[in-house]
Amino acid sequence: MNPIKVGLLGIGTVGSGVFTVLERNQTEIKGRAGRGIEIAVVADRDTERARSIVGERAEVVDDAFAVVKRPDIDIVIELIGGYTVAKDLVMQAIENGKHVVTANKALLAVHGTEIFAAAQKKGVMVAFEAAVAGGIPIIKALREGLTANRIEWVAGIINGTTNFILSEMRDKGLDFDVVLKEAQRLGYAEADPTFDIEGVDAAHKVTLMSAIAFGVDVQFDKAYIEGITKLSSADIRYAEQLGYRIKLLGITKRTDKGVELRVHPTLIPAKRLIANVEGAMNAVVVNGDAVGTTLYYGKGAGSEPTASAVIADLVDVTRMHTSDPANRVPHLAFQPDSMQSHIQ
Ligand code: NAP
Ligand code: HSE
Repeated sequence: MNPIKVGLLGIGTVGSGVFTVLERNQTEIKGRAGRGIEIAVVADRDTERARSIVGERAEVVDDAFAVVKRPDIDIVIELIGGYTVAKDLVMQAIENGKHVVTANKALLAVHGTEIFAAAQKKGVMVAFEAAVAGGIPIIKALREGLTANRIEWVAGIINGTTNFILSEMRDKGLDFDVVLKEAQRLGYAEADPTFDIEGVDAAHKVTLMSAIAFGVDVQFDKAYIEGITKLSSADIRYAEQLGYRIKLLGITKRTDKGVELRVHPTLIPAKRLIANVEGAMNAVVVNGDAVGTTLYYGKGAGSEPTASAVIADLVDVTRMHTSDPANRVPHLAFQPDSMQSHIQ
């Protein structure tokens, strides 16, 4: 069977990881997907840098809009980020019958309802494992591994930049600004790092988990959001002396009145596993009525960890695209459950 053809939009931190891992592990990935996956074209504003990564192995263009129109492309990977151009590209890709894989939590948390409705109407998939907790397969865990459960709550350290900042401030006594610069250098921070430090990025991610866990609409505008910018080194030190660690948590919870959705710094007893998640690592705790409490831990940001999740989606979409349409289970981004469809 011919390889499935992919257009990659944006070859920065995550895009370059996707290209590298897909090439390095091509034999295993082809076996798992049931056919080859070929990145036929890469679009990036900086074509020279893009060429230095892909060489002659893929076409390089600067116009991402030309890629989403191409009849030879089956799957579009959106890795440019942001809400505006990315939204137009994703909507056009869907309109042109392409499946979409994206790591863009901001786009989906804000425009998800419209995007998923368009995809459902067109019969294409929008996959977003990489949008939440980087390399941790938490979307798959919530949607598939825990599908037998009535989820009660989900809580997690889901922003690597802020966890890195809090860890370095505590362990090395470094200043906030110094550590933030290092997080940017390491490729963890968003293009606009205020999204990280003000809790917005974590709120985007917990909004998506909430929609999956409780079958509610994507309602980022209802989230309570408080970041880490008001915390001082003294707060971190005092917490330590009292036997606690401060972590920025994203929390979503089923209650009698609806769903809670919030992000804020939280005091956690130092002996708890999640209190010991350090650096840019992420951890998500999910409680379900049948399984009890489960914990997922791993790298929440960075080039190859995030690429690992993007490629997992590529394999899923390839399998679904290649399967017999008559036997295909419709792919819904969110499955409704009995939960009231509102955020408290
Ligand atoms: P990045 O390093 O800034 O890469 C984005 C690339 O897209 C850059 O090369 C950029 O070029 C290019 N680009 C931007 N707008 C474009 C346009 N209109 N046309 C063509 N190319 C364009 O970003 P990233 O860290 O890889 O993140 C990509 C997405 O993944 C974001 O949605 C982010 O939130 C998400 N994500 C990132 C991580 C992570 O660890 N970095 C983890 C999970 C999810 P310029 O450099 O010239 O702007
Ligand atoms: N800026 C994000 C973080 C990238 O620090 O977690 C991964 O989504």
